[in-house]
Amino acid sequence: KKLAVFASGNGSNFQAIFDSIKLGETDAEISLVVSDKPQAGVIERAKSVNVPAYCFIPKEYEAKADYEHAILSVLENNKIDFVILAGYMRLIGDTLLNAYENRIVNIHPSLLPAFPGKDAVGQAFQAGVKVTGVTVHFVDAGMDTGPIIAQKAIEIEAEDTIEAIAKKIHKVEHMLYPKVIKELVSK
Ligand code: GRF
Repeated sequence: KKLAVFASGNGSNFQAIFDSIKLGETDAEISLVVSDKPQAGVIERAKSVNVPAYCFIPKEYEAKADYEHAILSVLENNKIDFVILAGYMRLIGDTLLNAYENRIVNIHPSLLPAFPGKDAVGQAFQAGVKVTGVTVHFVDAGMDTGPIIAQKAIEIEAEDTIEAIAKKIHKVEHMLYPKVIKELVSK
């Protein structure tokens, strides 16, 4: 199966998925990366492992549908089977949702439906919850909504800073996302 990873940031999840595929754990390849940020760390990471990275700048398009059609043509030309969102900071619109129904997944750093949207780790810290975690879900038109595929909880200790929680979250993400993708592509 051919995967496209969409990311706006550092790309540590891209890296974790790439590495697990390389170890032969998953019957898939990351064919390309899509980013909306030319400066995103994920672009460098992709280049250094020879995965083509495509940057699409939303403001260069008149409408969201035009932006997504441009992305869609790259996905279709590369016969992409699944879209993997990994820190992609935009809502997916109808153009991509219709073309990839039930084939777009996202990872979110909380136990959804708690703390959707931006800065989920900061939200959990502020709320003082003792347990948070990671969710992988199918993507629909909402913000971090859509059917949940897998979740993993982490405990927040009294002494944990936001940075400490973020570190725990990333560690869990890097295990969970490759595992879920492995199951997804084997169906
Ligand atoms: C992750 O915490 C993910 O859950 C969220 O954005 C972050 C991306 O991190 N959606 P990275 O760019 O993969 O390091």
